Amino acid sequence: MSGKTTFLAALLMIAFLACTSRKEAEDAAKKSPTPSEAATPQPEVHGTEVKTVELTNPLNKEWVTAGKGIYDTKCLACHKLTNEKLVGPGWAGVTKRREPVWLINMITNVDMMLATDAEAQKMLEECLVRMPNQNVTQEDARKIIEFMRENDGEK
Ligand code: HEC
Repeated sequence: MSGKTTFLAALLMIAFLACTSRKEAEDAAKKSPTPSEAATPQPEVHGTEVKTVELTNPLNKEWVTAGKGIYDTKCLACHKLTNEKLVGPGWAGVTKRREPVWLINMITNVDMMLATDAEAQKMLEECLVRMPNQNVTQEDARKIIEFMRENDGEK
């Protein structure tokens, strides 16, 4: 458990240094020793492709709260809730520009998406870092989507 956490923290660190702007990366490099560039193997836990996601109104408040909790622990390091890019794109408007099925697969099957989906590949080119597989279950991903919907102003 703690070994895994340390491993994820290390992955995050590497990803963070890899995808911040060049200027920030240079600053960071001055402050701390450069981490090894060697590719760290990612945990290979794949979900199966999700085909449908049902959205209901009004929002499920319990899911919004649970989704925020997951965001705080697993996503906040790389995604802001505004338009601003951090390591990955900011989440403002993400539920408007992406279909729910696309989102849930990006969250639970990121390796598949980066291998097959043109939009995901385009983001990878802009961002220069792969989103690591976060080992999020489909249920948890659905809760994160509820939180994203609330962030986009849905009630
Ligand atoms: C280590 C940094 C990192 C973490 C942690 C991370 N992501 Fe990402 N995310 C990225 C990057 C980078 C991209 C851009 C796609 C790519 O290059 O892989 C991305 C893209 C996305 C996208 C597509 C955004 C868009 O504008 O279309 C979604 C949705 C997403 N991530 C959800 C999540 C969720 C949910 C979590 C937490 C469970 C999470 N991410 C954690 C780095 C991260």
